Amino acid sequence: MIPSIAKLPRISLGNYPTPLTEAHHLSAALGGPRIIIKRDDLTGLALGGNKCRKLEFVMAARKLDMEAYLVLFKGVHPETQGNLLLHDILDSKVRIIELDLSELLGGTIMVKMNALADELSQQGRHPLVIPAGAHTPIGTTGWVNAADEIWQQLQAQNIDARYLVVTNGSSGTQAGLELGVKYLKLPLKVIGISVFNKAANAINEVVNMANETAKFLNLDLAFTPDEITVYDDYIGEGYGITTDGCIQAIRLVAQTEGIFLDPVYTGKAMAGFIDLIHKGKFTAKDTVVFIHSGGIPALFAYDKEIAK
Ligand SMILES: Cc1ncc(COP(=O)(O)O)c(C=O)c1O
Repeated sequence: MIPSIAKLPRISLGNYPTPLTEAHHLSAALGGPRIIIKRDDLTGLALGGNKCRKLEFVMAARKLDMEAYLVLFKGVHPETQGNLLLHDILDSKVRIIELDLSELLGGTIMVKMNALADELSQQGRHPLVIPAGAHTPIGTTGWVNAADEIWQQLQAQNIDARYLVVTNGSSGTQAGLELGVKYLKLPLKVIGISVFNKAANAINEVVNMANETAKFLNLDLAFTPDEITVYDDYIGEGYGITTDGCIQAIRLVAQTEGIFLDPVYTGKAMAGFIDLIHKGKFTAKDTVVFIHSGGIPALFAYDKEIAK
């Protein structure tokens, strides 16, 4: 482990390393590269996903016997299904606010979280505000570590991969992977598929968060935007709105590999990956690791869009 990470306080929340699954049938169906799926849907905490690595460094309320308050913006599916059903079971205190996208990008949700934290402080509580996606250098550290973990697995299994394909939402997961790859000088190129931001904004956010995290970890390196790749062609009408490509990708991966992707993040990332294969960006000679960052519970909230 990177020495400055090994020194940090951490709680164990997930089962690591998560498996690498060889996706032979998916690969054959696409006539494309060798595809390895990094199974962070199988972390073992709260139905999996990429937040588990972040929360090992940030903390996770229920596992530490604390209360969780959530400030969420109203998405496409506000009914008690998918993740909202899980929060109901966890007895999370949920506040849903109606925002348009510009307010979301402008940080309104942070203002609302800080206001709630003030309210709780006045009641004598001691709140910790965790930004959406645990998007902080501490949270991102979990994914710096993941780059190290993936590389060790690839070496041990003699897999000659050259690419990591990852979903980009708030950019932290990609930023962590980029930092790990650069610091450890790994021969891997990270490709982000955005589900939210335009490419230029996502790239700037990867650069900012990777640089902030490098400082936090005392790693002497810095990123510039030209080093980072993010595609924004697969967002469709917007965040949380499914696309035909996303639904086809979910079905294809389920039917070839028995692995479920989600309709908001990994389904769109896989749709992008498939399109890039069709466009010749990846060929049969390449080996690509696709990061399955979880999100599966949302499938059940999107039944109307997905079911035939
Ligand atoms: C399932 C899933 N995949 C990917 C992401 C994107 O991660 P990040 O926000 O670190 O870019 C998220 C974020 O919410 C997610 O829930």
